[in-house]
Amino acid sequence: MTLLVQQPLSLYIHIPWCVEKCPYCDFNSHTFRKSNGQQDIPEMDYVDALIKDLDDDIDRFNIAGRTLHSIFIGGGTPSLFSPEAIASLLEQVYQRLPASDDMEVTLEANPGTVEAGKFSGFADAGVTRLSIGVQSFASDKLIKLGRIHDTEQALNAAALAKNSGVKSFNLDLMHGLPNQSVEGALDDLQQAIALGPDHLSWYQLTIEPNTAFASKPPKLPQDETLWTIQEQGSQLLKDNGFTQYEISAFSQPNKQSAHNLNYWRFGDYLGIGCGAHGKVTNLHTGEITRTIKVKHPKGYLTPARAALDHINVVQKDELPFEFMMNQLRLREAFPISRFSETTGLETKLLDKPLSQALIKGLLSTSHDNWQVTPLGHRYLNDLLEMFL
Ligand SMILES: C[S@@+](CC[C@H](N)C(=O)[O-])C[C@H]1O[C@@H](n2cnc3c(N)ncnc32)[C@H](O)[C@@H]1O
Ligand code: SF4
Repeated sequence: MTLLVQQPLSLYIHIPWCVEKCPYCDFNSHTFRKSNGQQDIPEMDYVDALIKDLDDDIDRFNIAGRTLHSIFIGGGTPSLFSPEAIASLLEQVYQRLPASDDMEVTLEANPGTVEAGKFSGFADAGVTRLSIGVQSFASDKLIKLGRIHDTEQALNAAALAKNSGVKSFNLDLMHGLPNQSVEGALDDLQQAIALGPDHLSWYQLTIEPNTAFASKPPKLPQDETLWTIQEQGSQLLKDNGFTQYEISAFSQPNKQSAHNLNYWRFGDYLGIGCGAHGKVTNLHTGEITRTIKVKHPKGYLTPARAALDHINVVQKDELPFEFMMNQLRLREAFPISRFSETTGLETKLLDKPLSQALIKGLLSTSHDNWQVTPLGHRYLNDLLEMFL
């Protein structure tokens, strides 16, 4: 085993509730019942359960006092929680795992759950980055996507985020929507750019199994249209100062998501909350352990029940593929030493697939740094299969 190097530690916190289930969404999200017009989310009970879950992880991995580099509060719809609940959650996390000086704390927000003052409340609670799920600015598309907000609310949420006191904000957009034209997709991007976000996540709509769209598929654009949207959209973003640093992630200079970068560079993260995934490396034994937490809020909130649902040590022969599946999403060149620093394995294990990918023009190399070529991005699945 070669020498492992301690990677940054991140924390993912899952909030599992949404107002409505969107027909394309396969994330672990559950609609909540309303009673007497009041929202019915047991947020303080959930914060208590999250902290218990965190304490168990800290004991399990013996990492009390290790510095945290980023937190991502995702969902579901975390913006359904009150700023007070988020403040209490963050305060208790930092009592256990201190924050680094350049700590990034992202919170996902749905434009339909934002009223004036809520974003600045999140900023006061310690959130440094808001990620707003806009998806589209076109009314007909928002209806088709089952979104709970309209165009006006999407525009308003972005304006509120800009003035809330957070350091940066991201907009989530999707393209390749039912009956979407190239012009429609580019118009969504233009409107997003005009709002001045620091980061844009621009996903192509995929039909996921076990969703309402899977049982009743909408009419999606032809492959040729999808390709033109991809090409012209990426160019439009580039012309407006955004660098594509990952398959679907575009940022202004120095505004990448530190949290997601840590995933893709094969760093460590704890995952707490319903269905959350974690990955932690033991520097002494070289073992990489993955955890998954209880998925349903009812089970997760049962006091007698442990939050852990599944735990396994990743087999060594799975690590080349796992490492590449993450790293090759990124556009950056990476030092090949990162493989041994994060897995403890010799880089010579990669010699054969790396040279095959080089010959096929899917990867390029210079001074022990490797990078995916444009051809490699186009045929990413073929490239990844070489590491299986
Ligand atoms: C974890 S979701 C949560 C965001 C937040 N709940 C919202 O919808 O406003 C993060 C993002 O993934 C994207 N997404 C979700 N399902 C998708 C799908 N089937 N295809 C492509 N992108 C998807 C959406 O852009 C969404 O904003
Ligand atoms: S609001 Fe977000 S997490 Fe909730 S169902 Fe819709 S896409 Fe999924």
